Amino acid sequence: MAVNELAQLRREVEEVAALTNYSRASLIPILRGVKEKYRELDSDAMQVIADVLSIHPVEVHAVSTFYSFIQPEPQGQFVFRLCRTYSCELAGKKDVAEQLQKDLGIGFGEMSADGAFSLEWANCMGMCDQGPAMLVNEEIHAELTPDKVHAIVEGYRKRQAESSASQDRGGAL
Ligand code: FES
Repeated sequence: MAVNELAQLRREVEEVAALTNYSRASLIPILRGVKEKYRELDSDAMQVIADVLSIHPVEVHAVSTFYSFIQPEPQGQFVFRLCRTYSCELAGKKDVAEQLQKDLGIGFGEMSADGAFSLEWANCMGMCDQGPAMLVNEEIHAELTPDKVHAIVEGYRKRQAESSASQDRGGAL
């Protein structure tokens, strides 16, 4: 992370940590906020968080790797996770997967060059009677068809463009 980004990050982390009197309770909200805003959690960011909360960076790393939604590796702003478990497989997952790759321009396990999107496989998310199903960040989409996927991706493209514009104007965690 760049030095100016780190200074900004420290201010933002301190703001969230102050809400819990700098206790560990703020660690997960901070990690989620940092991941959402900066889309990665490198060792510099972990050190800043550890310093602010007076804990060891190893603890920050351990918590971030335990929760799959806060993976330290860079991920797109919108992470598409398509269920590959049995019911969704039978309900037409293959066509949906192909459409997702086509519309996002990336394969599974990849992130778009502009950092807007990642595409991943997921296991059953409890929507087996409404498959194929996928999560985009924490929003669920069910009964997917290739046409529906196309419209959903367009919707996220629009949201991504809007949030880039607002981030250019600055924003908190
Ligand atoms: S099998 Fe896909 S949500 Fe359960």
